[in-house]
Amino acid sequence: MVDLSVKIGRTHLKNPIMPASGCFSTDIAQIVDVNRLGALVAKTVSREYRIGNPPPRVAELECGMINSIGLPTKGIEYFLEHQVPDYARFTPPLVGSISATTAEDFEAMTREVGGHPDVDVVEVNISCPTRNPGGGNFAMHEDHTFNVVKRIRSATDKPVWVKLSPNAGDVVAIGQAAESAGADALVVSNTLLGLKINIDTFRPAIGNKFGGISGPGVKPIIMRMVHQVSQKVKIPVIGCGGIVKVEDVVEYMLAGASAVMLGYLIFRNPSALTGMIDDLEAWCQSRGFARVADLTGAMIDDKIAETFDAAAAPIGQGHKTFVLSAAE
Ligand SMILES: Cc1cc2nc3c(=O)[nH]c(=O)nc-3n(C[C@H](O)[C@H](O)[C@H](O)COP(=O)(O)O)c2cc1C
Repeated sequence: MVDLSVKIGRTHLKNPIMPASGCFSTDIAQIVDVNRLGALVAKTVSREYRIGNPPPRVAELECGMINSIGLPTKGIEYFLEHQVPDYARFTPPLVGSISATTAEDFEAMTREVGGHPDVDVVEVNISCPTRNPGGGNFAMHEDHTFNVVKRIRSATDKPVWVKLSPNAGDVVAIGQAAESAGADALVVSNTLLGLKINIDTFRPAIGNKFGGISGPGVKPIIMRMVHQVSQKVKIPVIGCGGIVKVEDVVEYMLAGASAVMLGYLIFRNPSALTGMIDDLEAWCQSRGFARVADLTGAMIDDKIAETFDAAAAPIGQGHKTFVLSAAE
């Protein structure tokens, strides 16, 4: 028997597998047993009804997908009255995700969403790269992150998870700002801003020109960020980006993640959501791990990157040989 349970601050999850915001709806319960998931993460909601961005909203890439959905939503009232009760039919903790363009509105929305008895965690999406106009992309700057998270923190006693942006210059500084403002956990991360051009029309492949890239191609980049951030904060980090198989989950946990979220994979194969739980249990069993939580941060870091001096190494060692031949 493998103990798959993990703790994200005060929140207990029976396993570390969750859907990523915007990639899951309760319709998926028709094909998988969503009660098995670590938590349910709702699509981001804004205060007012939003129609979202012009189509096409998604396009396929060799490394995954690019999307510019633009956070369509029926608004917070509809969310609280209809969508939360719909999620609450299921047993996993419910993570409500909110977005706003001002710190005031983030604070007010946190009070309302966090005040609903069936919402267990408030995830704050301060990092959507494609939301227009205004953006509300506070996660690009550490001062903005600190200020908005401070206000959000003051508005609820429920756990607050802050979703970071891989488009920020120094994601570690932003994670630290969120932690010092009172975040309970960090989600690393939202999508990477990109561009795809349709060479038949000479136009951007998606209606909003730029879009967020997700899927396997972003995994090593987000993996690096999860590792760097988790080394510098004390709160748990949730890894999110490009997971398509159990080895990716293990890798994220070794890098420092306490749990993971799946996005792209759900569009490719919704039943992989719960299949991942079975695969993780089998992986732990085959390697003799009794507790999945023991994987978090277990990467062995020999610090080679920081200390290896290629120029000083004797000829014949891998680095030196590579440096010489690359220079030829
Ligand atoms: C179609 C689509 C819609 C998304 N909508 C949201 C959203 O509403 N809120 C949010 O925080 N992230 C949203 N995301 C980002 C995902 O939650 C996730 O951070 C990102 O896709 C990286 O994970 P992945 O590579 O596993 O897809 C969306 C992603 C996709 C592909």
